[in-house]
Amino acid sequence: MIQIKALPFGSMHNLNFWVECTETGSLGVVDLADGVLMIKALTEARKTPSHIFITHHHHDHVEGLGEFLDHFPKAQLIYPEGETRIGFKGYPYKDRETIRFGATKVLGLLTQAHTRYSLNYLFDSRHLFTGDSLFFAGCGRLFEGSPADLLTAMDRLCALSPDIKTYYGHDYAQSNLEFSAQIEPNNSEITKQKNIIKSKGAPLFSSIALERLINPFFRIDQKEVIQAIDPQGQLSREERIGHLRQKKDQF
Ligand SMILES: [Fe+2]
Repeated sequence: MIQIKALPFGSMHNLNFWVECTETGSLGVVDLADGVLMIKALTEARKTPSHIFITHHHHDHVEGLGEFLDHFPKAQLIYPEGETRIGFKGYPYKDRETIRFGATKVLGLLTQAHTRYSLNYLFDSRHLFTGDSLFFAGCGRLFEGSPADLLTAMDRLCALSPDIKTYYGHDYAQSNLEFSAQIEPNNSEITKQKNIIKSKGAPLFSSIALERLINPFFRIDQKEVIQAIDPQGQLSREERIGHLRQKKDQF
């Protein structure tokens, strides 16, 4: 079994995680924006990491690597194959590659929209760490990929098993839901999630099933989404998701 702890912090609402195999005690961290914070949390809990899983090269996901590797030099650094901007040597992980992690397995799923090489890590077939490729009710900006890459990425993640929990690199749930509600004002699940966040605060994870109901980037074939993006019905799916992303960038 896998146990997960989230460490939220910073002005960019970053979320870093530690993932532990309860059978063997193997421990991995997912992304490292703040090495000092993660070292402190692990030291207090008397934990030693065996793996570091980096989703993509952006500074707010790798900035803590130097301090962390100084402190835990035996931790195996893992990042997407092809990515040369991590700053440290480690193990380049291929799309669809599986590695053993404690008593369980981790599958890497490459998406190429937010950055050219972004790996989503699926632990134990149940827990998906998406970095900035997928957020609660949203997705990361298109910094390096094209609308076609975004469509491929969203289709790929949306097609995963609905009971997979998703853990994202930033908590933008509230503002993403505001945008979702503007795109689909009659979507009752979006209204429900807005109310939950208002009373209980932002969640630390979502699921493929929930994202299918509230995430406009998973819902580009829904009538109300098409209506909001392309009322004349003239755009391809690729153009539609590109326009949706532009609209979100300007939101
Ligand atoms: Fe990013």
